[in-house]
Amino acid sequence: MSSREEPTLTIFQRGAPGRRAFAAPVLDVPPAPDDALPADLRRATPAALPEVSEPELVRHYVNLSKRNFDLDSGFYPLGSCTMKHNPRLHERVAALPGHARLHPLQDPARAQGALELMWNLQQALGEVAGLPHVSLQPSAGSHGELAGVLLTRAYHEDRGEQRTKVLTPDTAHGTNPATVTMAGYEVVKVGTNADGGVDLDDLRAQADEQVACLMLTNPSTLGLFDANIAEIAEIVHGVGATLYYDGANLNAIMGITRPGDMGFDIVHFNLHKSFTQPHGGGGPGSGPIAVSERIEPYLMRPQVVRREDGGFDLDHERPKSIGRLRGFQGNYGCFVRAYAYIRSLGAEGLKDASETAVLNANYLLALLKREGVAEYLPVAYDRLCMHEFVLSGAPMKRELGIRTLDLAKRLLDHGVHPPTVYFPLLVEEALLIEPTETETRETLEQFAETIAELLREAAEDPELARNAPTSTPVRRLDEAAAAKRPVIRQELAAAG
Ligand SMILES: Cc1ncc(COP(=O)(O)O)c(C=O)c1O
Repeated sequence: MSSREEPTLTIFQRGAPGRRAFAAPVLDVPPAPDDALPADLRRATPAALPEVSEPELVRHYVNLSKRNFDLDSGFYPLGSCTMKHNPRLHERVAALPGHARLHPLQDPARAQGALELMWNLQQALGEVAGLPHVSLQPSAGSHGELAGVLLTRAYHEDRGEQRTKVLTPDTAHGTNPATVTMAGYEVVKVGTNADGGVDLDDLRAQADEQVACLMLTNPSTLGLFDANIAEIAEIVHGVGATLYYDGANLNAIMGITRPGDMGFDIVHFNLHKSFTQPHGGGGPGSGPIAVSERIEPYLMRPQVVRREDGGFDLDHERPKSIGRLRGFQGNYGCFVRAYAYIRSLGAEGLKDASETAVLNANYLLALLKREGVAEYLPVAYDRLCMHEFVLSGAPMKRELGIRTLDLAKRLLDHGVHPPTVYFPLLVEEALLIEPTETETRETLEQFAETIAELLREAAEDPELARNAPTSTPVRRLDEAAAAKRPVIRQELAAAG
């Protein structure tokens, strides 16, 4: 039976008692005595595990994986998420036993290779950011943001300052204000000017000695580079605040300009975006941060350091550190992949990747400015874009009666993952499109043609888009309910 016909079977409902997908070697050491584990850690009955053969196991998970849309099967222009191809070479390197089987509690003396890789990665990221000190600890971009805001607080407190507010532009990714709130600061919004940049007058009006930090991404989530960045840095530093760089959009500027050179004090990277990694679905991510000299004393501990004798170590002796933000040193597999990416491309290659990302976005934008598309999906800010751009579906909604969400769902019927929708918030019916540097010209042209075709189709029969998708394993979901009230079924086999 295909997975489509039996969508709800769990792995526990498959198989039969005694079936195995794995043959353990015969025990060649004495069995552990019953009391080897303290009583409170022992189970009364064995764990209830699925009992399946290897083909059943493989088919179960392969069929499940086919129920989702993935970057390996089709175009995935999800703005702000940088869904670019993950070179298979990285997987091979990350799977080498020396990497994959390294225990996180290994003594540093016996993990020199791993520490050296981490130290080299820190150096490379520091160079990309234009800021010398790097911690690899955070597990995601948002985790890097939290680290950055806590570092800002430590920096101010060390100077005897109790600041209460953090500024975020109204184009900011939702994780920015969420981080600010989590770190105990008040979120203060800064407006956007007619060019899509930070409204300098509003920034000047909001910036005072209570402001701890401005969090900014440049290019912004509108895909626009803010050329006023030097002035922005001057205003922020003028009131003694720090400037935080949300590095999720680094894919547009690597090797071309550096946040440190723009005046930023703290940067987070999304290794799982700019430096390739399989991501999405909550998979492991990595959000290292880079900071300037004045922030360095507060960086998380331990730090990966190179000793004078050339060996590598973990430095726990950091008296002003904000402490640890997670167990162990971070998601090591992400470090290996990011390092493989940096070493295989080199400085010129990283720059080329960014230039191609920007070229691809501008080419696609030019294709979408054609007749039959631009009148329904105009570009929100009509300038050269960086690695992504925002269209507004407001005229499409008004004139064709379909919303951005309907168009997005209909794209799935054409084998394309939808772009990001309804973000950034200040563009009505927003569609945020990021093609990335790894897509071919033909793919971009095909996408533009598909959008034109869907708009023609909607003019004739809007119901097709309103009811889409029709070709996917599940039809349209109530996404808010699915996220907020998930119905999760886990049937455990009877313990026995
Ligand atoms: C602009 C921006 N900032 C921050 C983040 C947060 O990164 P993460 O998802 O790794 O927590 C994202 C994620 O999509 C983003 O697009």
